[in-house]
Amino acid sequence: MISVLPHLNAALNAVAACFLICGFIYIRAGNPQRHRACMIAAAATSAVFLVSYVTLRLYAPIFAFSGQGAIRIVYFSILASHVVLAMAIVPLVLLTLIRAIKSDFMAHRRIARWTWPVWMYVSVTGIFVYAMLYQFYPAHAATALLSP
Ligand code: HEM
Repeated sequence: MISVLPHLNAALNAVAACFLICGFIYIRAGNPQRHRACMIAAAATSAVFLVSYVTLRLYAPIFAFSGQGAIRIVYFSILASHVVLAMAIVPLVLLTLIRAIKSDFMAHRRIARWTWPVWMYVSVTGIFVYAMLYQFYPAHAATALLSP
């Protein structure tokens, strides 16, 4: 059951990224209702992801990347930026949503111009980290899941 979670998490990241792209397209097309729906859906998807991610980490707290050579530098650089920005994105999303709910759209727009790209980056690099760990270099990840 737990072994399904990495795949579920990557799928949730991909779904959140799709909602973010649609939400951006809708606001640029002058459709705030659909923008609102997409962004709330993105936030809900990311909230489910967070629960699933924490559950996974409780059972598989450590995972090792088995790639060797230059790919390690690429992987760990992206992982580091992903982790730092993933922590920043939680308050950013909440603040962006609060400003929209208060109908303070000038302030919403100002912060959203940071929130949107950072959120996209975190979602896309989440998929990258998953692909590297579980698809391209799967050996250690599988071991980590079997021995929590
Ligand atoms: C955390 C979730 C959200 C994000 C990341 C987000 C993102 C954005 C972005 C990037 C823009 C500016 C687009 C541009 O550069 O022209 C924008 C504008 C806007 N958003 Fe959101 N949005 C979110 C949630 C919402 C919600 C829930 C609502 C509705 C209650 C909303 C309503 C609007 C409106 C009306 C604008 C246009 C503001 C203006 O041009 O003055 N947004 N949003």
